[in-house]
Parts: sequence; C-alpha cells; structure tokens
Amino acid sequence: MNPSRNTYVCQSCGASAAKWAGQCPDCGAWNSLVESAAPRRRGHGTRAGGAAPAVARLDAVPAEEVARITSGSAEMDRVLGGGLVPGAVVLIGGDPGVGKSTLLLQVLAAVEGRGKTLYVTGEESLSQVALRARRLNLPRLDLPVLAETRLEAVLDVLEASRPGLAVVDSVQTLYSEALESAPGSVSQLRECAAQLVRQAKRSGVTVVLVGHVTKEGAIAGPRVLEHMVDTVLYFEHDGSSRFRLVRAAKNRFGAVNEVGVFAMTDGGLKEVGNPSALFMSRHAEPVPGSVITVTRQGTRPLLVEVQVLVDGAGPGPPRRLTLGLESNRLSMLLAVAHRHAGIALADQDVYANVVGGLRINETAADLPLLLAALSSFRGRPLPADLVVFGEIGLAGEIRPVAGGEERLAEAAKQGFARALVPQANQPRRTLKLDLEVMPVTRLAQALDIGS
Ligand code: TYD
Ligand code: MG
Repeated sequence: MNPSRNTYVCQSCGASAAKWAGQCPDCGAWNSLVESAAPRRRGHGTRAGGAAPAVARLDAVPAEEVARITSGSAEMDRVLGGGLVPGAVVLIGGDPGVGKSTLLLQVLAAVEGRGKTLYVTGEESLSQVALRARRLNLPRLDLPVLAETRLEAVLDVLEASRPGLAVVDSVQTLYSEALESAPGSVSQLRECAAQLVRQAKRSGVTVVLVGHVTKEGAIAGPRVLEHMVDTVLYFEHDGSSRFRLVRAAKNRFGAVNEVGVFAMTDGGLKEVGNPSALFMSRHAEPVPGSVITVTRQGTRPLLVEVQVLVDGAGPGPPRRLTLGLESNRLSMLLAVAHRHAGIALADQDVYANVVGGLRINETAADLPLLLAALSSFRGRPLPADLVVFGEIGLAGEIRPVAGGEERLAEAAKQGFARALVPQANQPRRTLKLDLEVMPVTRLAQALDIGS
C-alpha cells in the first residue's frame, strides 16, 4: 500500500510534522497543525553528469552600486537604507488600519512616471482604492491597478508589463492554484512569496509585500517570509496617537532598526521632520522623576523623555513596572544603585515609562533611568537643559555607548546646554559643540552631579 505522503504544517511557525498533534512540537501553539500536500519532489537527486556550472572568483565580479529609486519620502528612504533597490523584495507588516495601504499608494504615486508601477490589491475593490487615492490628493492618479488574488495571474501581468515597482496588498490574500490549501495558510504564503521573489530577482522589479500582523504581533507565517525577503519593515504605533513609526527589522541594504516617523492626517501619511519633539512632554517647570536622554534608533539619534515614579509600596512585594523599557534591567539597576550608591528602594514601588510610546532597548538608557528614579525618590527635579546617557555596569562603573558624538550633536541641536555622559564618550576637541559636557566614570559620581 502506498503510505500517505501528506504532512502537517503548523500555521503559526511553519514547522512540519509527519503526524497530527494538538500542539505544535516546535513553537508550542495549540491546534495549529493543518494537513497539507507533501512538497513535490524534483527529480531523484541523482547527478546529471553534464558540464558543471562555472565557479566565479569574487574579485572578478563587478560590484557596481545599484541606483536606488527614491520612494518620494525622505523618511521612507531612510528606513529602506537610501531608497528602493531594484530587484529587492520588501515585506511591510503592521496592524490592520495602521496605514500600510495608504503609505504604499503614496509611494506608488511618487514613483510612477520615473518608472512604471503596479498596485495589486486583493483586499479592496478597485473603486475603494480609487476613492482612497482621490482623498489622498496624490500628485497623479494614472496608476496601474489590478484587483487579483491568483498568484499565476499576478505573475503573468508582471511578466507582460515589466514594472519597476510592484506592490502586493496583501500577500495573505494571494493563492497559487498549484496548492490546495487556503489563501493565508503557511504553504500558500511560502509558495506565493517564493514565486514573487524569483520574479523580482529575474526581472529586476522591486516587489513590496504587505503582510498582516496577527494578534501575537508577528506577520502570519512571519518566519517563513522574513528569511525569504531582503527587507522587513514594521509599522509601530501607540493606540491613541496619530504618529506612526516604520522600523526596519531586517535590511540587506541598510541599517537595521532604522526608523521613519510619520503622522496620519486627513491627507494621508505626512513625514515628521523633527521627531525628537514628539518624545518629550513639555513641562512648564522641571518636574521630579523626568530625565531627557538621547537614544539611537538605527543610525538616528532621538531625544526621548524617561519618566520614573517612585512611591511607597503597600503590603506585599514592591512593584517594578516598565513601559517601553526592559523590566529586568530596571531591577538590576536598582540593585546596583543600592550596592554602589547606597540608595535603598527595596520598600518602594518603581514605575518607569518612555514618553510617546517609544521602546528603548539599548543600555544607554541605564543612567537616565536611575537618575530619574533618584529624582522622583527625593522629589528633586533635574535641570531642564540637561541630557543624560550611559550604560551602567554591575560594578557601578559608567560605560560608553555607541554613537556618543551624534547623540551630543542632536542634543545641542535641540537646544540642550548640558550633558552628563560616560567619560569615554567625551567628544573630540575638534568637535565644536554648543554644550557643556560633564564626563563621569562611576555611578556615585554621576548621582552627585545629577542631583
Ligand atoms: P490603511 O492604509 O487602509 O491601513 P492598512 O492598509 O494598514 O490596513 O489605513 C486606514 C486608516 O487610516 C483608517 O483608519 C483611516 C485612516 N486614514 C486617515 O486618517 N487619513 C487618510 O487620508 C487615509 C487614506 C486613511
Ligand atoms: Mg490595507
């Protein structure tokens, strides 16, 4: 008897198993295994015996810089690492309604004319797209659009019209007729993305795939797609605000973690030229527990306000709560402050927050975090014209962070007059900054100056 060749593919992580199980053995998701046809086998794996392909030598390969296509927006170009690369595949993920279709329509209108474009919509009807385009007041409306969900049809159109930029909105609605599984399933996603990547590499078209993010915060079948594409961008936003961050999670053509900042308006997404202003609250008077730091998002220095509230704890263990910061790091820093600076907060609740909904995941926020905690504990505000950054080690030493001079330059540009920084981050003499730099090496010394 011919044994069944079907496998079971996890719809959450893409792992395959020979037998059905209630829980995926790989990622632990429940009820996520779905039967799918075993992949077709190519030949028998025997060697052909013909002429072997030629192997090149790296120094003989011409390495010309490819000309990038500007996306029409400086913020978007920044996230992409300088513009769209011909033949590259970009995946853009984000919550429904965050502005993916809006942004891409704006990009298409900016690119059309300098090259041909194609917008493939599988989610909205052509009239919905047209309506949105009119509302957006785009510079031009003569954009080629295609309402289609069959992969083979999309590939045919790409082959026939040879655009320079094609947007597929969204990849989850596409399906290949060669597979039986439903659109949006992992095998469909994998197949559709693979075929589009092949088309991009072959014909030089830049393909942008829109991907929806599931409740867990990952693009459905994300790991399957992330390694197949060249660039992965995620839309981030904080529920109530109209600001949107587009962050590069992976980029073969630029810096990872780079962010572009946009605001959603009646006329679509507008770039925010000076994003530093977004992440600071404007206090009329300096308030305790608030410290301005300079964080780096990708290569861009950004001024951000870190706030800490220290308050007497009730019965039970004290609470340590962070938003936008790592809570393990906070606990560790409080231990360092106790051991090396004699500050005991063991009987206090400590709440820390980053203004504007930004996430900081770099150690440069260590020193501002502790200074803010101490400032709140003592009820003494720090000077309003002070910025602070620096990593704190377990031995109570202040360690340098990357990009010190860029951070100081941004602080000076935004009008700050003083900076408390690690000694090793002191700028070169030749760098003329309109800013007084106070270098420190030990935590105790930093707390003396900063209080
Ligand atoms: P959309 O681009 O459709 O989001 P996505 O493709 O990521 O699902 O954005 C839809 C939201 O944006 C919707 O809630 C309305 C809002 N919006 C504006 O505020 N201004 C505009 O000009 C447009 C077109 C949309
Ligand atoms: Mg959309």
